Amino acid sequence: MSEHFDVHGGARLTGEVEVVGAKNSVLKLMAAALLAEGTTTITNCPRILDVPLMADVLRSVGCDVEIDDDVVRITTPAELSHEASSSAMSKLRASVCVLGPLVGKLKKAVVALPGGDAIGSRPLDMHQNGLRKLGATSSIEHGCVVAEADGLHGAQIWLDFPSVGATENILMAAALADGTTVIDNAAREPEIADIAAMLGEMGAKIEGAGTSTLTVEGVAELKPTEHRVIGDRIVGATWAFAAAMTRGDVTVTGVDPHHLELVLEKLRLAGAEVTTYDGKGFRVRQPERPESVDFVTLPYPGFATDLQPFAVALSSVSEGTSMITENVYEARFRFIEEMVRLGADARTDGHHAVVRGVEQLSSAPVWASDIRAGAGLVLAGLCADGITEVWDVFHIDRGYPNFVENLNRLGARIDRVGTPGPEAD
Ligand code: EPU
Repeated sequence: MSEHFDVHGGARLTGEVEVVGAKNSVLKLMAAALLAEGTTTITNCPRILDVPLMADVLRSVGCDVEIDDDVVRITTPAELSHEASSSAMSKLRASVCVLGPLVGKLKKAVVALPGGDAIGSRPLDMHQNGLRKLGATSSIEHGCVVAEADGLHGAQIWLDFPSVGATENILMAAALADGTTVIDNAAREPEIADIAAMLGEMGAKIEGAGTSTLTVEGVAELKPTEHRVIGDRIVGATWAFAAAMTRGDVTVTGVDPHHLELVLEKLRLAGAEVTTYDGKGFRVRQPERPESVDFVTLPYPGFATDLQPFAVALSSVSEGTSMITENVYEARFRFIEEMVRLGADARTDGHHAVVRGVEQLSSAPVWASDIRAGAGLVLAGLCADGITEVWDVFHIDRGYPNFVENLNRLGARIDRVGTPGPEAD
């Protein structure tokens, strides 16, 4: 038997919740530790399933990894293996981020193709083309990305799309290349700035972090460091939407509100009263039923695709009609099928969805298809009558530390029922 959540409808969330380090930062910072022999310490790490999975990936190339509460210590040996083949590789997308560091350090990598959420096509062409520009060969062989170089040299690289993963892999490989690399149309997500900051502490020379042009002057060697992960803006935004949907009053700490400017502006348009606390957090109060707002997903600083399920869930209980456009992952609208089970008046046409708000959703059994869809269904369940069963909750556990505990502390009633399934091992 696997686990599900019983979500009791009718909650109004109030109180304070603290956000810890960002999943999509910590996993890449762990990969960056491969670039320096010795012990790298990462603090403010979230207690989520993906962290021990990434630790297994690093162990498969010879690292010693210790997880102690919210601190992860990675000891990278002098002799690393270039083959990352742990079974954990197929369980998370971020595992592919060992590619750049291994090519950078060893000039050779064989990395099993990554897994991760079923949210649409996730090719690696931009990762491979970037490494080729730096002088490596790259092919897909027997389920692995294989890359090899005699030496890496700086290059001008234009990305077709500001891919987060491709920017990170190229950045980490270029840090140890000869000469200067310029990455144009680079991703600008705060997590990229975080990894650039850590690489800088390790001795890398990077300019332009947080902008669409990154300039990397390669150095011969990097040294280990201690680095604190930035707060998880996606988790912070999840609590913001939860407050707005339940007409609640929630203060969120541990996250920089500058990373959520567009999100908080959208919630203001929906009728929320939003107060921000510089660098520290924000408060969202929703006095009345939310009003409909349109959402368009785009790379940062646009509205994050990871938050699209929450935009749909909010729209489904708002007054009026919302148009939601998904520009990054076409399969993310699968979430809407589950929302329809809960009584949402929603339909999709290509990468657009039209959602007409209803006064109240209606409880039903629903299935999480990925981390964010799972969290979105739980929030929707809080706005439904009766008890909504949310299944396949191992997805939620991959991205949200203490999700149920935090919601219950804010006044929700959610019970975790059953025993963990095989996926959560
Ligand atoms: N793409 C390509 N070729 C490539 C790389 C990407 O066509 O070589 C396309 C993808 O198919 C997609 C778009 O570019 O359409 C954006 O992909 P990106 O590379 O930016 O995404 P990612 O690095 O694979 C990270 C997050 C995702 C988040 C996206 C977009 C991690 C581990 N994952 O994925 O987070 O949705 O950026 O912001 O950092 C989540 O946390 O739930 C999650 C799915």
